Amino acid sequence: MTNILDGKALSLQIKDEIANEVRALTAAGHRTPHLAAILVGDDGASQTYVANKEKSSAEVGFLSSVYRLAENIDEAELLKVIDFLNHDDEVDGFIVQLPLPKHIDEQKIINAISPDKDVDGFTPINIGRMVLGQEAFIPATPKGICTLLQRNNIETEGKHCVVIGRSNIVGTPAANLMSRKTFNCTVTMCHSRTRNLPEITRQADILIVAIGKPEFVTADMVKDDAVLVDVGIHRIPDSSKKSGYHLCGDVKHSEVDSKCSWVTPVPGGVGPLTIVSLLQNTLQAYKKKYNL
Ligand code: GUN
Repeated sequence: MTNILDGKALSLQIKDEIANEVRALTAAGHRTPHLAAILVGDDGASQTYVANKEKSSAEVGFLSSVYRLAENIDEAELLKVIDFLNHDDEVDGFIVQLPLPKHIDEQKIINAISPDKDVDGFTPINIGRMVLGQEAFIPATPKGICTLLQRNNIETEGKHCVVIGRSNIVGTPAANLMSRKTFNCTVTMCHSRTRNLPEITRQADILIVAIGKPEFVTADMVKDDAVLVDVGIHRIPDSSKKSGYHLCGDVKHSEVDSKCSWVTPVPGGVGPLTIVSLLQNTLQAYKKKYNL
């Protein structure tokens, strides 16, 4: 039987938990947690993500602000905004929405974010802390995957977890987290140069797909009763839809889902948990700041 890893329902539950905690904190006289975002240019997907972050912040009772900067802003100006937020006592955490325009050195920008406010967990300090198993901000998407597995009591101990994709944002941290204590998986990381990919993915008890290619994973690549986590989300032009598109993931769900013991739907799987993780990280930054 196929069970659904329902990210939408779980995200509502966790947002409720965060909202209750915020209410208790503010009732006790503490200030309201505040998440900020920097959005450079007018990429459609990035605007949607940032709008969702603002909406979710409001839902849990956080303050939120967005710094909208022109596509042609130079690196020095962007660094000034980061420096301002690093020193703004009213802001507990902030993110720089990626991707950035080509003329800006993304790593240089990330390196400038204060590790104490890096609620995306993208700075070398936070990634280093995560790899060492120290207290850290865990990047939002892999943290969301961990939460989905844990809250659904998915058994992971000693299991073979195969991760497809080695991005800094998803694949690399997900592979690391699954290998460490708490999950205790044996992990194989696959990427664009992997040979015999289906042969490896067929060995996965837990398959995490973050490759960014629509419906890339097909039924022949998945073993019976696997736990399947699909991180992809793509807009596919579709004239039969009022919106003009439909959404799909990195997995061909129409043929794969029936083989699996658990699957994340697209949409409504990993996506909603990503935003919730960012809210959790912001509350973590806030509590750390005030020793709460
Ligand atoms: N672009 C795609 N995903 C993310 C994310 O999790 N954080 C940021 N800052 N940018 C992104």
